[in-house]
Amino acid sequence: SNPSLLILAGDGIGPEVMAEVQRIIDWFGDKRGLKFDVSEDLVGGAAYDAHGVPLHDDTMAKAQEVDAVLLGAVGGPKYDVLDFSVKPERGLLRLRKEMDLFANLRPAQCFDALADFSSLKKDIVAGLDIMIVRELTSGSYFGEPRGIFTENNERVGINTQRYTESEIDRVARAAFELARKRGGKLCSMEKANVMESGILWRDVVTEVHEADYKDIELSHMYADNGAMQLVRAPKQFDVILTDNLFGDLLSDCAAMLTGSLGMLPSASLGAPMENGRPKALYEPVHGSAPDIAGEGKANPCACILSFAMALRYSFSEGGEADRLEAAVEQVLADGVRTGDLMQADGGTPATTSEMGSAVIAALDAS
Ligand code: NAI
Ligand code: MG
Repeated sequence: SNPSLLILAGDGIGPEVMAEVQRIIDWFGDKRGLKFDVSEDLVGGAAYDAHGVPLHDDTMAKAQEVDAVLLGAVGGPKYDVLDFSVKPERGLLRLRKEMDLFANLRPAQCFDALADFSSLKKDIVAGLDIMIVRELTSGSYFGEPRGIFTENNERVGINTQRYTESEIDRVARAAFELARKRGGKLCSMEKANVMESGILWRDVVTEVHEADYKDIELSHMYADNGAMQLVRAPKQFDVILTDNLFGDLLSDCAAMLTGSLGMLPSASLGAPMENGRPKALYEPVHGSAPDIAGEGKANPCACILSFAMALRYSFSEGGEADRLEAAVEQVLADGVRTGDLMQADGGTPATTSEMGSAVIAALDAS
């Protein structure tokens, strides 16, 4: 049977960018014989409107069964007043938690045609292609004890950075596997100089390397230096492995090396399923962009490139992902630009669907 894909378009520009991805999914079915069993469902505000919860139990169950989930974006001003327990982002958090997606992959790739959009000088970012692997289900954002307590007549806010050996081991393996398919280099970032969890992190990563990944060039770096190096000379890196908290900061920092939010994909991967592929959720890094929603202005590339990541990690050996990424690169080289990729005086921007059509035309020509 065909591989299965659950599409959760969500809110705001989510459905707009996902419509373009669906055309591309159809293209792969028609032209490359790569057919998917696609089902669609609601998440976020859209699910709240229909069911009173940001993710219905039936949707959660479907997500557990499919080969991959592709998500658009959730949220919007209409839902800001909702109680925390039913806020749109809770739908996304539930998916990540129940699917146990512990490895968050955030590529930072600089397309030549967009090098001028970087916050940095062109020569520092031209040709940049790095991958940040952030641990996503543990660490400071989840560790207990946590809360605001009273101690000696004043309030104290507590979070706990806590990592078990097995949590570090599994995300390290995911990162080493990636490094093996990419440039063969991995840099692990923590603060072993001042944090116990950092000492354990460094030890476990070193042990996993010794045991099974001697072919990968491993280095360790304190995360604060890592932030500096990312901005100073990002091309020294291939795969960066780091924890939840540092990964949150470092991946946002890396994102801006490459320009627009409208170009950035991500993947969140869990344990291998029966077919040997990891449980997986793919989504653009951007949110629902209420300021431009419904106007056909959204850049669909982040979502299209998220589907390319799905092709690479869930559905094929990489050739089809390369094909799609090359098509996006070609379109940018040809000068097709949505508004987010233009200067104020840049002329008439392409619409969301014109950008999608251009990618399909480039696929046809490939
Ligand atoms: P955002 O990413 O939605 O938008 C930030 C800025 O970037 C806006 O000016 C927007 O127009 C622009 N932008 C974002 N994606 C774009 C695209 N594909 N093409 C062109 N321009 C694009 O972040 P913001 O404004 O902080 O949040 C808006 C809503 O999205 C909130 O409800 C927030 O909670 C939610 N959100 C959801 C996320 C998710 O679903 N994973 C992630 C981040 C925010
Ligand atoms: Mg963040």
